[in-house]
Amino acid sequence: MTIAVTRLIPQIGIDFLKDHGVKILLHKGDAPPTRAQLKTLLAKADGAITLLTETIDEDILKGAPNLKVIANYAVGFDNIDREAAKKHGIIVTNTPVPEMACAVAEHTIALMLALARRIVESDTFTRKGLYRAWGPELLLGTQMSGKTLGIIGAGRIGSQVANAAHHGLGMKIMYTGPHTIPELKESTHARHTSLKMLLKTADVISIHAPLTPETRHLISTPEFALMKPTALLINTARGPIVHEKALLLALSKKIIAGAALDVFECEPAIDCDIRDNLELKKLANVILTPHTASATIEARNAMSLCAAKNAYAVLSGKKPLNPVN
Ligand code: DGY
Repeated sequence: MTIAVTRLIPQIGIDFLKDHGVKILLHKGDAPPTRAQLKTLLAKADGAITLLTETIDEDILKGAPNLKVIANYAVGFDNIDREAAKKHGIIVTNTPVPEMACAVAEHTIALMLALARRIVESDTFTRKGLYRAWGPELLLGTQMSGKTLGIIGAGRIGSQVANAAHHGLGMKIMYTGPHTIPELKESTHARHTSLKMLLKTADVISIHAPLTPETRHLISTPEFALMKPTALLINTARGPIVHEKALLLALSKKIIAGAALDVFECEPAIDCDIRDNLELKKLANVILTPHTASATIEARNAMSLCAAKNAYAVLSGKKPLNPVN
């Protein structure tokens, strides 16, 4: 059996496949494969381990007649046309490992505290040699204890963020999503609420929803207008959930106080287009990280093994651990 791997993933997954006699077709290099390279790579493969940088659609799938499984090396799978895969009899899987949820939750808390306590601004200020005397109002931030954290999408990751913020920082929790989550209420006294109420009430809003047609541009101009002028927005989920132009205006006009973004609407570009000299990276009330929320050694190793096990299970006629179509 042959499995295409669209970029080098941690060795543990590769070793698992090799130990089970799988032949690996690896796309080498740091850059994602081009569409042409992807087609060539998948043409003879029985299975594939793909990354979120690869768009897998009908056009790609029709050139891969032997493909039986696409094991996406990510929790999100918005890069894959799952309906097209189903039509071709291809199983799609993801990697919702606990280490990944932990990594993203920790990154979210790090971004929240960095934003609230102006850590990046303070670092720049200090490095520039601007610290000349202690001052009572120098780089004042905001206390998180006692504030309300609004979670949009309280799945595994969102719930872990809620628990860390409640138990570690003494924050009140509210969340929105299609279902109430009794365990979350039990562990954090979290309140399930409408999106509108969450936007009006929360001091910090953190997005943990998947990107779907329903969540694309979920947060845009009318939603920013509902938020408090002191609100902080964090997005570690998917860029297009936030309408980037609306965010830029909300930040520059101080409709909200700040944002921390690990994902971008036109990723890897930080700004989709630059108009009126408005750029995310020019704003002091913004913290930017390059989609590294899950980038811990523990999470990436566990994701690698999980993707490899999913691909191998399907090719050996077994049920995959994490099917998503
Ligand atoms: C995911 O898994 O969906 C993250 O965005 C990347 O690890």
